[in-house]
Amino acid sequence: MKIDVLTLFPEMFPGVLGASMLGRAQEKGILEFNLHNIRDYSESKHKNTDDYPFGGGAGMVMMPQPIFSCLDAVDPDHAALRVVLTPRGKTLTTAMARELAAEEHILLLCGHYEGIDERAMEQMDCEISIGDYVLTGGELPAMVLIDCISRFIPGVLGSSESAEEESFSAGLLEYPQYTRPAEYRGMIVPEVLLNGNHAHIARWRRQESFRLTWERRPELMANLDESGLDKHDRRFLAELKNQDN
Ligand code: ADE
Repeated sequence: MKIDVLTLFPEMFPGVLGASMLGRAQEKGILEFNLHNIRDYSESKHKNTDDYPFGGGAGMVMMPQPIFSCLDAVDPDHAALRVVLTPRGKTLTTAMARELAAEEHILLLCGHYEGIDERAMEQMDCEISIGDYVLTGGELPAMVLIDCISRFIPGVLGSSESAEEESFSAGLLEYPQYTRPAEYRGMIVPEVLLNGNHAHIARWRRQESFRLTWERRPELMANLDESGLDKHDRRFLAELKNQDN
């Protein structure tokens, strides 16, 4: 997948895009990132990219000209799926990330200041927010989106680390994990994980996932497909839900 990023702060990206899985995906040729500094496209004498809002008000607005010129240079035929990161966009979900991962070419526009001239916004195909809070710019959201999408691109994660969970647990919270040593500062790992009984381990994990989800994010329980559960799991769930009543 080719990802073009239009930003006023390209220097924010290389650390994140170059490290860990994203760095390796680039080396493998699975991901290609191109950073474009919107300021380079400004036709004003001082390379301005923002101006006062018509109608008054606080803050500055990103001017249309540098963004249009940058789009003309980077994506002249509008071949890319153009995404702008903005708090007013649709909130990013796993389902959206999975859909975006199927694209061949994505262009991300990062906003700054108080906003982007609406005529530039109209050149985009979709608007995405990473949550109901306002950041100082769209750069961190763009990096979050790239990271989230890349987990669904074949080859980015190792074969043993698939982003697709088993169907029963899709959309639930993860069970707790432990590694060696089995005892650390007097704290012990649950016995069931040490005895090598894979059916018992799988059930324990499933039920811990149910417990955490029920306690912390009860609204996610709607994602659980109960048809695939055995009688132990059903009893566990019934008891869990009864505890509060
Ligand atoms: N720009 C500023 N805040 C944002 C957010 N929450 N999501 C996407 N872009 C943003």
